Amino acid sequence: MVGQMARDLVLVVDEVPGPGGTAPVRERREVLGGKGANIAVGLAQLGAAVELVGVVGDDDTGERLIARAAADGIGTGAVVSRKGCETGLIVNVVADGWRYLEDLPDGVLLREDDLPIDLIARAAAVVVQLQQPPEVALKAARAATGCVVLDGAPERLGDELLACADVVRADHQEAELLVGRKLTGADDALRAAHQVRERGPRFVAFAVDDVGNVFAWDGGELVVPLGDVEVVDTTGGGDAFVAALTFGLTRGDGPEDAARRAVEAAGATVTRPGGRPDLTGC
Ligand SMILES: Nc1ncnc2c1ncn2[C@@H]1O[C@H](COP(=O)(O)OP(=O)(O)O)[C@@H](O)[C@H]1O
Ligand SMILES: [Mg+2]
Repeated sequence: MVGQMARDLVLVVDEVPGPGGTAPVRERREVLGGKGANIAVGLAQLGAAVELVGVVGDDDTGERLIARAAADGIGTGAVVSRKGCETGLIVNVVADGWRYLEDLPDGVLLREDDLPIDLIARAAAVVVQLQQPPEVALKAARAATGCVVLDGAPERLGDELLACADVVRADHQEAELLVGRKLTGADDALRAAHQVRERGPRFVAFAVDDVGNVFAWDGGELVVPLGDVEVVDTTGGGDAFVAALTFGLTRGDGPEDAARRAVEAAGATVTRPGGRPDLTGC
């Protein structure tokens, strides 16, 4: 798993106060977070052997995050502890939807030299979470010999990245960036997913706001509506989705099965505040 890790502070409030106001916090969660770590946690919970490639600062928080990842059953040998850098912090204020306050210094972005090329080359699957410099994401994707899963949309090098991807997953906004146009509804998103498939990947999954998720693969497609669950916080829904999709496709599940499990995993995660998945038993 190549991607972001950060200290994740989730605060559930009834109302976000305006300037000069105060609000009690109803629930607080302080966990290992960041999209890369969330996906790694999900994969480990599903039973995969997973290594995390990400960056923390050389501070106490960084040490704590590495220890927490290890306690989650994640291999941390490739986590970089960046000298002189503070560990990333994401504050997620959950009220009527989420609000993120992010402190992610440049130092916590991956650099080309950080990548454990041999480890990446040996992995059965490599998930590259694209909130990283595109050059670094591309180097990781090109080093892989197993299944390459991309999550998100790159700022640059889109064609190059898609050309070496096997699986691509994007939320609605990211899907629009990938195809360079607005997407309206499931049919339109399916057309776009097939277009992206023609640029390299064999399997493409897009979230469609208020509709659900669409899937396109060679000779097939599927639309799965949103689960009938009470949504508390959509944060991490995509991360759980990617974990379950990667796990399913890598162990040889058919595209439909893998797709439905991914939607179930997302549905289970959006019922709880914060991005940390709980896929044990999924
Ligand atoms: N009720 C629901 N049932 C199933 N999936 C849901 C539900 N509500 C939201 N989702 C899914 O959760 C995911 C959220 O994705 P995304 O915005 O990428 O989250 P993040 O980047 O925070 O992980 C989407 O795939 C969306 O379809
Ligand atoms: Mg996402």
